Amino acid sequence: MKIFLILTGVFLLIFSCADQGKKTSYEDRTWWKEGVIYQIYPRSFKDTDGDGIGDLKGVIEKLDYIKSLGVSMVWLNPIYSSPNADNGYDISDYRNIMKEFGTMDDFDSLLKGLHERDIKFVMDVVVNHSSDEHEWFKQSRSSRDNPYRDYYHWWPAEKGTPPYRYSLFDPKGDAWKYDSITNAYYLHYFSQKQPDLKWENPRVRQEVYDIMKFWADKGVDGFRLDAFQYAAKDTTFPVLPVGYEKNVIKYYGMGPNLHSYLKEMYEEVFSKYDVFAVSEGAGSTFEDAHSLVDADRNELQMAYHFEGMDVGNSLDRFQLKEFKEVYTKWDSAFAKKGWLSVFLANHDVPRMASKFGNDSPIFREASTKMLNTFILSMRGTPYCYYGDELGMTNIGFDSISQYQDIAAINGYKKVIDTGGDVTQYLASLKFLSRDNGRTPMQWDASEQAGFTTGTPWLPVNDNYKKINVAVENEDPESCLNHFKKMVQLRKDNPVFVYGKYTLLLPEHDQIYAYTRELDGEKMLIMLNFSPEVATVEIPVKKDLEELLMNNYQNVFLKDRVLSLEPYQAFIYKLKN
Ligand code: GLC
Repeated sequence: MKIFLILTGVFLLIFSCADQGKKTSYEDRTWWKEGVIYQIYPRSFKDTDGDGIGDLKGVIEKLDYIKSLGVSMVWLNPIYSSPNADNGYDISDYRNIMKEFGTMDDFDSLLKGLHERDIKFVMDVVVNHSSDEHEWFKQSRSSRDNPYRDYYHWWPAEKGTPPYRYSLFDPKGDAWKYDSITNAYYLHYFSQKQPDLKWENPRVRQEVYDIMKFWADKGVDGFRLDAFQYAAKDTTFPVLPVGYEKNVIKYYGMGPNLHSYLKEMYEEVFSKYDVFAVSEGAGSTFEDAHSLVDADRNELQMAYHFEGMDVGNSLDRFQLKEFKEVYTKWDSAFAKKGWLSVFLANHDVPRMASKFGNDSPIFREASTKMLNTFILSMRGTPYCYYGDELGMTNIGFDSISQYQDIAAINGYKKVIDTGGDVTQYLASLKFLSRDNGRTPMQWDASEQAGFTTGTPWLPVNDNYKKINVAVENEDPESCLNHFKKMVQLRKDNPVFVYGKYTLLLPEHDQIYAYTRELDGEKMLIMLNFSPEVATVEIPVKKDLEELLMNNYQNVFLKDRVLSLEPYQAFIYKLKN
C-alpha cells in the first residue's frame, strides 16, 4: 500500500552519528523530559453538542480523567479554523478555533483547566503548508503581482511542466497543481488543499513567529512542528536524480536553510518563553536528528523519529529483532546528547495494540500492558495516544465507503486509476489505515460509548462495551489501571527517565529485555512480545531484589530460569 509506505517511509532514518558531549542528560533535567505526554485527537475525544464531532468543551469535561492518568502534558492535534480536508492539518486561520471544536473562550478555559491541574499544553503547529482557503493563498493565487504571491511556491506554466514532485495525498501523486487563474502551478506535498508555504520568504517566517507568539502569550507550553523537515526546500526544483527514492527527505526537505529558520524561530519565539518544541520527523540520519535538537544548537528540543513506528508497516507484521535494533541504536545515538520522544502510535498509524501487540480477545489486555510497560520504561519522553491506555484496537473497515481519511480515499482513487490491486490495497488499509486510530474514545457502555449523543463522524468500535473507561476504572487489573501504575512508577524513579539503557538478549525472538541504570540503581525490564511462553535464564548477574511491575499475577522463576507468560511484562529492581 504505497501511500502509507510513503507516508511513513519518507521519514525513514538511516544510521550514522557519534556520541558527543560530556554531560549526561540527568544533569540537564527539565520538566518536558520528565513528563508523560497524552495525545488527544480532539475530533474523537468527547462531543458535548451532539454533532458527532469531539470538541474543546469535551476535553474540558474530561480534564479530571486526564489528570487521573498521571500525565503531565497534553498534545492536541490542530484545533485552528479549517475546512477539514485533512482533519485540521489544513489551516485557514491560525488565530481562530475550528467552529466544530468551539470558540477561543473554550480554548482559554481548557488551558486554564489544564494549568490548574498542573498539566502543560502542547500546540500542534502546521506551517509547512496552509489550507488553500487561507486568506494568504486566496490572495496569492489571485494574481502574479499580488503581495502574497511569494507566500507559496509557484511555477509559471510558460516554463513548461514543473519537475516531478510526489504528493502524499494527491489522487495522482502529483505535487504540482495547475491553477488557471494565473496560468501557473503551485506546490503541495500533501493534498491539493494544502499548498506548501514558501519559507524562503522572510515575511512568511515572520507571520509564523507572530502566530507562535500569539499562542505562547496565551500560555501554551510547547509546540509540535508538523512535517517541518519539509519546510526548507531547494526552490530551484531540480530534476530528481535516479534513486532519489532511497532518501526522500534529502530531496524533499531538510534544505540547507532549515537550521537558519529554526535558529531564527528559537530567537524569536522559544528563547522568550518557557516552552519546548518537538519536530515531527528527524531527517534521514542521526546527524540530522542531532542537528535539530541538541541543546547547544538552540533550535528544537525533542526529536520525534519514525523508524520505530515504521517497523512492521506491512501485513507481514514486524520482527522483534528489528524492533529491538531500532530502539537500541536510537537510544545509543542519543545517550549523551539530544532527547527523543518514545511512542508506538499516533493519529497517522494503526492502534498500538493491533500493530505491535495482539488484539485478539485473549491477548489484548496483556499485550497492551506490555507495550505500555515498554513505552514508560524507555529513555525519552513517552507519548500515550488517547485510548491506548485502555487497549483500544483497530476498527478494520472492509469497504472504501467506510473511510473518512483523505489519504485512504485518494490512495484508493490512485489504485483504481493506475489499475492497481484493489483487493490488496483494501487489505492493507484495513490493517494500516489512519482511521483505525481515530475512532471515538470509548468512555462507557452506553450508546456510542458515551462519546456523543448524535451520530459519530467515524463509527465507534464494536468492542466498546468491554473496552471503556468506566469498566476499566472499576477493574484494578485493567489496562487503564496498569497504565496509571506505570506512569506513577516512572514518576517515582528517575532511572526510567534518565538511566542508562542496555539491551540484553539481542537475538531472542520472543523477549525484549533491557536494564536501566542510574546512580547505582539498576532495573531489569523483561517483555514477552509473543503469544507463547518464553523461557530464559535471568539475563543479568545480579540478583532480583524487588518486583516493581508485572502484568500477570506471578513471575515463574526456578533456579534462575524465568518463564514468561504470553505478552508478560515485568520490572525488577536488581540487588546492588
Ligand atoms: C503530518 C500529520 C498528518 C498530516 C500531515 C499533513 O504528518 O501528522 O496527520 O496529514 O502532516 O499536515
